[in-house]
Amino acid sequence: MEVFTAIQGRRSIRKYESTPVEEEKLSKVLEAARLAPSASNLQNWKFIVVRDENNRFKLAEAAGGQSWVAQAPVVIVACGTETDKVMLSGQHRYNINVSIAVTHIILEAYELGLGTCWLGMFEEDKVKKLLNIPEDVRVVAITTLGYPSEDALPRPRKSLGEIVSFEKYI
Ligand SMILES: Cc1cc2nc3c(=O)[nH]c(=O)nc-3n(C[C@H](O)[C@H](O)[C@H](O)COP(=O)(O)O)c2cc1C
Repeated sequence: MEVFTAIQGRRSIRKYESTPVEEEKLSKVLEAARLAPSASNLQNWKFIVVRDENNRFKLAEAAGGQSWVAQAPVVIVACGTETDKVMLSGQHRYNINVSIAVTHIILEAYELGLGTCWLGMFEEDKVKKLLNIPEDVRVVAITTLGYPSEDALPRPRKSLGEIVSFEKYI
């Protein structure tokens, strides 16, 4: 699949089949994260694969009660480590690095026929407690992973004219 085809076709999926995700597919999705670029090649991330049903329910609860989250056979919790490292720009490395890796995950998942939904709405302290995540590690994103049981419609996007300017900020 062309990268652009995946970029164009991917949707956030909020309804899943109970069919388990094959080990090879899960490994490939995680490999896509491993290969992501990172500032100074720091690779300051950790991905926790949650398949246990009870923990998936608890994650759904921590995600503001988005109950459909537990329906996905796999939930990946993407964490940033070495969270004190800041770039000259003032941006923290960990959240940018982890976000790129999660983008790799969701695009590779699409190529493999799997659905994902990036979750930003979650109570970090609850997630950390549940999964034994150390205090200095931050949970940047969570994504569901599984076979879609919905044909999600494309959400609207701003036009290029609205989001791009040349030479200066206009
Ligand atoms: C940082 C981030 C946080 C998000 N958090 C949630 C969330 O908590 N729950 C949810 O259902 N969707 C969440 N989404 C999915 C967005 O709603 C979705 O990407 C957007 O509406 C565009 O739809 P699409 O992904 O199908 O193109 C999040 C997406 C991003 C990038």
